[in-house]
Amino acid sequence: MSPTETPVRPGTSSRLRVNGIDHAISLDRDRSLLYVLREELDLTGTKYGCGEGECGACKVLVDGVAVRSCMTPIGEVVGRSVTTIEGLAIGTRLHPVQQAFIDANAFQCGFCTPGMILASVSLLARNPHPSDMEIRAAMDGNICRCGGYLRIVEAIQKASQTAGGAGGGPP
Ligand code: FES
Ligand code: FES
Repeated sequence: MSPTETPVRPGTSSRLRVNGIDHAISLDRDRSLLYVLREELDLTGTKYGCGEGECGACKVLVDGVAVRSCMTPIGEVVGRSVTTIEGLAIGTRLHPVQQAFIDANAFQCGFCTPGMILASVSLLARNPHPSDMEIRAAMDGNICRCGGYLRIVEAIQKASQTAGGAGGGPP
């Protein structure tokens, strides 16, 4: 067994790769990716907001693209690469988008922030230098109940100016 793998638990039947680590999971297709991340893998950085696909608090990356994990059946992501907010930094070095959110003070309570950051990473991966309009359109599915939208847009602008490309990949 590789050092990046966890043991297969009794009754499990498949593996899910999250933040570069393979996890043994049960393939009950009715469960959402959000449930597995939070309740089974203890990755609670991914937030449960509405549970209905409306707020974006639960967004993670699947093969580099932001998805709403509350609406994603676990069976759809087996064999693909999932990145949560816990897997974005490399060691102690924050991802440029994380750093830009700090630099722009782009959060208050922080509940929406993981989803906002992962949606931003996904945006910048496909469009490294988005206009204001493109940022606002891309972030339309992410709700901030604290109303920090101006600073969030500013953070994404800052990240887009980071040398090397802020959409760069986590594991
Ligand atoms: Fe998934 Fe709101 S919790 S979109
Ligand atoms: Fe509180 Fe966005 S910072 S919900």
